[in-house]
Amino acid sequence: MEKGYILALDQSTSGSKAMVVDKNGNILSKSSMEHKQYYPNPGWVEHDPMEIYENVKKVLKEAMLISKVKADDMAALAITNQRETILVWDKNTGLPIYNAIVWQCRRTSEMCSQLKKQGVEEKVRQKTGLLLDPYFSATKVKWILDHVEGARAKAEKGQLLLGTIDSWLVWKLTHGKAHVTDYTNASRTLLFNIRTLQWDSELLEIFGIPRCMLPEIKSSNDMVGYTDTEELPDIELPISGIIGDSQGALFGQNCFNPGMVKATYGTGSSIMMHIGEQIKETGSGLVTSVAWGISGRVEYVLEGIVHCTGDALKWVKDNLMLFNSFEEARAMVNSLDSNEGVYMVPAFVGLGIPHWDSDARAAVVGMSRGTRKEHLVRAAIESTAYQIKDAVDKMELESGIKTKELRVDGGPTKDEFLMQFQADMLNHKVVSTEIAELSSMGSVYLAGLAVGLWKSKEEILQLRSEGQSYTPVMDKTTRDRYYEGWKASVSRVLTI
Ligand SMILES: Nc1ncnc2c1ncn2[C@@H]1O[C@H](COP(=O)(O)OP(=O)(O)OP(=O)(O)O)[C@@H](O)[C@H]1O
Ligand SMILES: [Mg+2]
Repeated sequence: MEKGYILALDQSTSGSKAMVVDKNGNILSKSSMEHKQYYPNPGWVEHDPMEIYENVKKVLKEAMLISKVKADDMAALAITNQRETILVWDKNTGLPIYNAIVWQCRRTSEMCSQLKKQGVEEKVRQKTGLLLDPYFSATKVKWILDHVEGARAKAEKGQLLLGTIDSWLVWKLTHGKAHVTDYTNASRTLLFNIRTLQWDSELLEIFGIPRCMLPEIKSSNDMVGYTDTEELPDIELPISGIIGDSQGALFGQNCFNPGMVKATYGTGSSIMMHIGEQIKETGSGLVTSVAWGISGRVEYVLEGIVHCTGDALKWVKDNLMLFNSFEEARAMVNSLDSNEGVYMVPAFVGLGIPHWDSDARAAVVGMSRGTRKEHLVRAAIESTAYQIKDAVDKMELESGIKTKELRVDGGPTKDEFLMQFQADMLNHKVVSTEIAELSSMGSVYLAGLAVGLWKSKEEILQLRSEGQSYTPVMDKTTRDRYYEGWKASVSRVLTI
């Protein structure tokens, strides 16, 4: 019998999710586990790579068990992952020398300022399409090499490897046989030249990173290795379909043509516009990245990055403990007719587009004596919609393309209040999908193309099913009042 199923992994900021997908794009099973977030200092964020690897094995095994698909019928393991988060490990012991430093972590803020003073930002931007900001990986690696005793000497001797989470997991799952990454993940490190499509010697020198630590760069439809771990059923499953989570969602949303835009809502958000095979020069704020590399051919995106969207509500839930479930939060929000002038600017780890202010910190603005917990919940949810509007507006301005609809995905898109408010703020249509796990679906489609489960992008287009569509209902005066209030609140926390 034809091997007709893909095992998919989404290793995200908040957890690890596995699922089994069939040839018709149906999700047969799901399994997920959260991992611990470490905040050792204000603005610092870390993950334990071993915990992530152990969780990954568990969810993969469980998703296979629930689906009842035999290991032999599985065609490939596809991997999508949180981007920019990076770690360094010892290739002899197989152990990380320090926790993974998460994309949200601001510890290299000062390092970035120093590099800017040295005048290298323009060169970095030209080569990488990115900004010199702690969000991206390179300065995090430099921090590890500078702060872990003996690390730099070991790295120079070729004993240490670096990798984003995809690299780490593939290296572990293949028992150290494959040290690889894909174009999309490479394009978030500040070490990859998006024009030559290679690691860049000059950038490696700027960030003081030895070349021998780097993984080999692959296309998302390359077969990069075979699983070799007894803890999964003892099979040699080909690994393919490696792609960063936001790019995975772009592929999963079938945004295959220039001008198509999607927004992924999660811990933070990434708004992407497909721009085809040519790089577009942009001013400040937006970044240019690889959309995907398929059989060595690369296409590009413009991206607006928002650091904290879904996580704002999670903060209200976990840290303020104002509600227990998202359903409860919805009931609280629906009990209010308006925000009554209360805004939350969730700059817990600084602000991304359009300000890129890594020292800004969060605030709640506009509270009066009558403010209740409901207002805080609503302010947290609204903050997501305002930030996405900021990003979409900027994208329209820089690209000269007016968006008519926004395709959306990710956990928070289940929130109907948020989606309606989003359509009202953008003043155009917002379309969600029936499949919430679009990042995974992108990697599944790419792996499926690699193993012949689907023959072409056209065949994948047939699998698309739109979810709910939201059209704006808010009048202009009300919309302007809400949005002006947001902009005034943001100006209160900016440091630049
Ligand atoms: N139903 C929901 N309503 C509102 N917010 C939600 C909902 N589900 C998840 N979230 C928020 O979205 C974030 C998680 O996003 P998602 O469910 O897409 O998982 P994820 O892929 O693990 O996220 P990420 O990739 O950003 O780590 C959390 O911050 C959570 O607070
Ligand atoms: Mg995600």
